[in-house]
Amino acid sequence: MSDSAKLKIGDQEVELPIIKGTESEKAIDIRSLRAQTGYITLDNGFMNTGSCESGITFLNGEKGILRYRGYPIEQLAEASNFVEVSCLLLNGELPNKEEYDSFNKLVSSHSKLPASFNEILDRFPKDAHPMGVMASATAALSGFYPELLNPELSADEQERVFAQLMGQLKTIAAHFYRRTQNLDPVSSDPSLGYAKDFLNMLFHGQGKDIDDDVAQALDVLFMLHADHEQNCSTSTVRVIGSSHANLFATISGGISALWGPLHGGANQAVLEMLEEINQNGGDHKKYLEKAKDKNDSFRLMGFGHRVYKNFDPRAKIIKKACDTVLTKLNVQDPLLDIAKGLEEEALKDDYFVQRNLYPNVDFYSGIIYKALGIPTNMFTVMFVLGRLPGWLAQWKELRDNPANKIARPRQIYSGHTERNYK
Ligand code: ACO
Repeated sequence: MSDSAKLKIGDQEVELPIIKGTESEKAIDIRSLRAQTGYITLDNGFMNTGSCESGITFLNGEKGILRYRGYPIEQLAEASNFVEVSCLLLNGELPNKEEYDSFNKLVSSHSKLPASFNEILDRFPKDAHPMGVMASATAALSGFYPELLNPELSADEQERVFAQLMGQLKTIAAHFYRRTQNLDPVSSDPSLGYAKDFLNMLFHGQGKDIDDDVAQALDVLFMLHADHEQNCSTSTVRVIGSSHANLFATISGGISALWGPLHGGANQAVLEMLEEINQNGGDHKKYLEKAKDKNDSFRLMGFGHRVYKNFDPRAKIIKKACDTVLTKLNVQDPLLDIAKGLEEEALKDDYFVQRNLYPNVDFYSGIIYKALGIPTNMFTVMFVLGRLPGWLAQWKELRDNPANKIARPRQIYSGHTERNYK
């Protein structure tokens, strides 16, 4: 096959290079198109636009494949852990024992917040949405580390700030949650491991025994969320990072993008939807009809995905983790029955089948978080903690390549032509 594509516009013919990925993905490189022809391409929602070449995550939506640095998500979820997966994403290879211990230690030792930072957190109203708190607090950290505002960080500084953000965002989330419960903050205990430590920082002294299997299920959830190539929040991180903004501001932007209910905010929206169905008598079929009705704005939250058009491999693993956690905690949740009923009906309904709408990563995760005792408005914060290493890895890849340019899409102007001011 030729290494270029020919585009004919009227009498003009231009040749555009073809770029191939290591998994035989193909792209037409249109960077010279405007210079050659005066035309741009228009692609609302970036349905068919590649924004970068990346060696971090491969996914094939038709086949339901997700791999981090070549490793299938199923294998990582089975045998790895979140900190190890974070090292893999950040550095490209699985760490050896020494590298793993060193990064783990770095995350724990940097999980403390600066001395006066709690005063900032304590200024938020207790009913503030935790995602707003996370985004603002992450940007606010920039004020305490002027030496880390330079986007040209050395390798050592990068490692430190990555570990610091992984530690501190966990602390911010736990601190704010405890404040809403009128409880004092609990310090990180490095001996527990990332997920169990976080559960301890949330629930210490509240009479909850934090079971190893349950902490393990949360660790798996974090791994499943760790990266997902150029999704909305990751693209936001890359766009902000491309302006050479500092890393705190950049990650804060990623958190804001994740908050939306069409993206990470869907996990909160799913649970609210299931609760509403339950409160209205549990008739999930009625809600399925609402989701199909084009005159009704209701969507089946946790269903559908821009890229996965067969199944979301993460949803399969999460469904299993959900059963484990509910059994272990001996929780009987009517919402799980509603969720299973909705899934069963939707998967055989023409509307959903024709549009390739399947449960996504958010469909069952909320039921797990609820069983763990995490409040609904904290669900997307859990996603933040999981996605953080992916954002950091994508930022690093962007910054490490000096050829990367500031992100600056074009537009087709559709407003008034020139008119005179009176
Ligand atoms: N319920 C009902 N109909 C749906 C749903 C849904 N959840 N999702 C898509 N559709 C329908 C659309 O109405 C559209 O129908 P049409 O062709 O008759 O107009 C068709 O399926 C295609 O939908 P789009 O919105 O064009 O698909 P897009 O790829 O732009 O959106 C998205 C993907 C945003 C995930 C969408 O499926 C959705 O809104 N899902 C619910 C929210 C959700 O769960 N988001 C989490 C995604 S995973 C993540 O970000 C972590």
